[in-house]
Amino acid sequence: MHFLAVLGRARFPGMTTTLITGANRGLGLETARLVEVGHTVYLGARDARRGEEAAGRVGAHPLLIDVTGDASVQAAAKLVRDQVGHLDVLVNNAGIIGPVRPAGQITAADMLTVYDTNVFGVVRVMHAFLPLLQAGPAPVVVNVSSGLGSLAVTADPESHASVVPVWVPGLAYNSGKAALNMVTAQYARAYPAVRINAVDPGHTATDFNGHTGAQSVEEGAEIIVRMAVLGPDGPTGGFFAAGGPVPW
Ligand SMILES: NC(=O)c1ccc[n+]([C@@H]2O[C@H](COP(=O)([O-])OP(=O)(O)OC[C@H]3O[C@@H](n4cnc5c(N)ncnc54)[C@H](OP(=O)(O)O)[C@@H]3O)[C@@H](O)[C@H]2O)c1
Repeated sequence: MHFLAVLGRARFPGMTTTLITGANRGLGLETARLVEVGHTVYLGARDARRGEEAAGRVGAHPLLIDVTGDASVQAAAKLVRDQVGHLDVLVNNAGIIGPVRPAGQITAADMLTVYDTNVFGVVRVMHAFLPLLQAGPAPVVVNVSSGLGSLAVTADPESHASVVPVWVPGLAYNSGKAALNMVTAQYARAYPAVRINAVDPGHTATDFNGHTGAQSVEEGAEIIVRMAVLGPDGPTGGFFAAGGPVPW
């Protein structure tokens, strides 16, 4: 389904407040097109100038938020609380690939750097924004993971082609996304009133991979948007790609 087709499913056009982290470029910026169906989008960026430029391009509100900084995340939550009082949709999208080297050359410091953004960053943002999500009528969280974080796929090389066509090894990135998947599942169990899912956008042409991805950002963002506009009866605690559930 084309990206724009799912936009029509937005639940409360004109009334939905959405925060997307790492949204000044790539998949996050494309997801910010939720403004086109009436979402009030806070476009999260860790650099004020980049955030303002990107927000201006799509009609979103720039929000300074570096997911590796407690003070930055708390200040962002305070701003949304003061301006809106609640948050309807949170898209935890900010992510880094980290060092791409053979496993034996990855250090604990490398792992900490990648986890600080891709795993602990999500926990920082959830900790700060869960009270705001719970203050809304039908809260939704989308954690942007990767099929590379699937233990099932990693353990079964024959499934690589069908689930993750471009499977690459990666001690820090892949294990961090596996951790994010469990973080997602744990939050979903702890907060049954919130729709909390992980998604795999698929190999998408962005700066992240030097634009080698096979998909456009429109195609990659489709599953992010689809899970961001879930109604209160939608699934929670799942892991989804455009083609359906991804094995954990
Ligand atoms: N592209 C793919 O093929 C693919 C596949 C599967 C999953 N994903 C996931 O999709 C998400 C988005 O990836 P992308 O391809 O759009 O990557 P991208 O083009 O490199 O964009 C990453 C975004 O994250 C931001 N970011 C990085 N560290 C941050 C921090 N500490 N605080 C706040 N923002 C931060 C970046 O901000 P700056 O501009 O300031 O650096 C940028 O806006 C990531 O979680 C990635 O793991 C991507």
